[in-house]
Amino acid sequence: MPGTPATDAPPPGDVRAGTLELRGVTKRYGPTLAVDDLSLTVPAGKVCVLIGPSGCGKTTALRMINRLIEPTAGEILIDGTDVRRRPAARLRREIGYVIQQVGLLPHLTVAQNVATVPRLLGWAKARVGPRVDELLALVGLPPGDYARRYPAELSGGQQQRVGLARALAGDPPLMLMDEPFSAVDPITRERLQTDFLRLHRAVPKTVVFVSHDIDEAVKMADVIAVMRAGRLVQFAPPAELLADPADEFVADFVGADRALKGLALTRLEDLDLPPAPTVRRGEAGGDVRDRVASGTLVPIGGAVLATGDDGHPLRWVPVAAIGDRVEATPGRTEPLLSPVTTLRDALSALFEAGASHGVVVDGAGRAVAVADVATIGGGLAAPAEKAGDA
Ligand SMILES: Nc1ncnc2c1ncn2[C@@H]1O[C@H](COP(=O)(O)OP(=O)(O)O)[C@@H](O)[C@H]1O
Ligand SMILES: [Mg+2]
Repeated sequence: MPGTPATDAPPPGDVRAGTLELRGVTKRYGPTLAVDDLSLTVPAGKVCVLIGPSGCGKTTALRMINRLIEPTAGEILIDGTDVRRRPAARLRREIGYVIQQVGLLPHLTVAQNVATVPRLLGWAKARVGPRVDELLALVGLPPGDYARRYPAELSGGQQQRVGLARALAGDPPLMLMDEPFSAVDPITRERLQTDFLRLHRAVPKTVVFVSHDIDEAVKMADVIAVMRAGRLVQFAPPAELLADPADEFVADFVGADRALKGLALTRLEDLDLPPAPTVRRGEAGGDVRDRVASGTLVPIGGAVLATGDDGHPLRWVPVAAIGDRVEATPGRTEPLLSPVTTLRDALSALFEAGASHGVVVDGAGRAVAVADVATIGGGLAAPAEKAGDA
């Protein structure tokens, strides 16, 4: 186009906000209706989890959005524009795609893998390097340690993080994720889910996330689309799905322990948690005792939490053991929890560690609050009362 300035700004008509709409989308393979008349809308910035048993059409639905598969009928609109009006190759660079098998290029370093899409998008070299470092830090892989490694030198969970960084690299408004965390062990999966949610808070994107795990769906979703044999059987926020399944199939799929699953709907940040009783390493013992006496510092089981100057927890120290100064070497403060940790995950972390309480740390790792089993259990009662009121 004559007169178009040569900038990094995408040309008009590119994917920007990321509102996604499927209208009567169907995919037929011979006699098989892999996806059957699927209609749904995901508002910009929301996470939609597509869930259902194996073979119900989740992957097919997802791959029609970035045109890896062409629908037999119906239309798919992003920000009101039919995806078929965009060249497929450009569309796929503008939509982040994360799959279970990660698909990292083995002969490229971690940094080179993450840089793939920005390079294809024609970003200036000076912009790509900092972006790669920023993303690796964001997904919990400090670039100093990981940028120059090769995929084979990473664990499955770390590879999955690189895959996530790579998908985020071009800053796409829309992300498609096909069972991205299902190949890693349960503890790593829980961490990846929590980290993804934290990331999503910081940089909201429209996400379509395929899962066959109702617990994962309840945890991740703003809205859940339950599919069966290619058809949409319910489209509802997690709380509504748990409280009011559309039919017997959904009720069975959601499972009998629905009340317990409600624990996955509440996060620690939703509870009124007491602040962590922190003391700084090197703080005068007299000051600590004064703060305890005045009630501004409330020990837990007679102990306070010693932190470094940066606010990172070091270890629990009995007040009675503090002399002239708070002395603390790094010790055991596990389990560390995040404000976005669900009550369900918080409880299982406490049980696993055999601890009665855990320390909640913010994004910078500073101790901010304490969560104990009783407070978290109180969070279980609250939603049930709400349901009773309705
Ligand atoms: N390329 C294909 N050719 C023929 N049938 C297919 C093809 N891809 C998927 N199917 C069929 O379509 C249905 C939906 O598949 P898929 O979308 O992969 O399900 P899910 O991701 O929910 O497990 C299945 O019955 C599957 O066998
Ligand atoms: Mg699939």
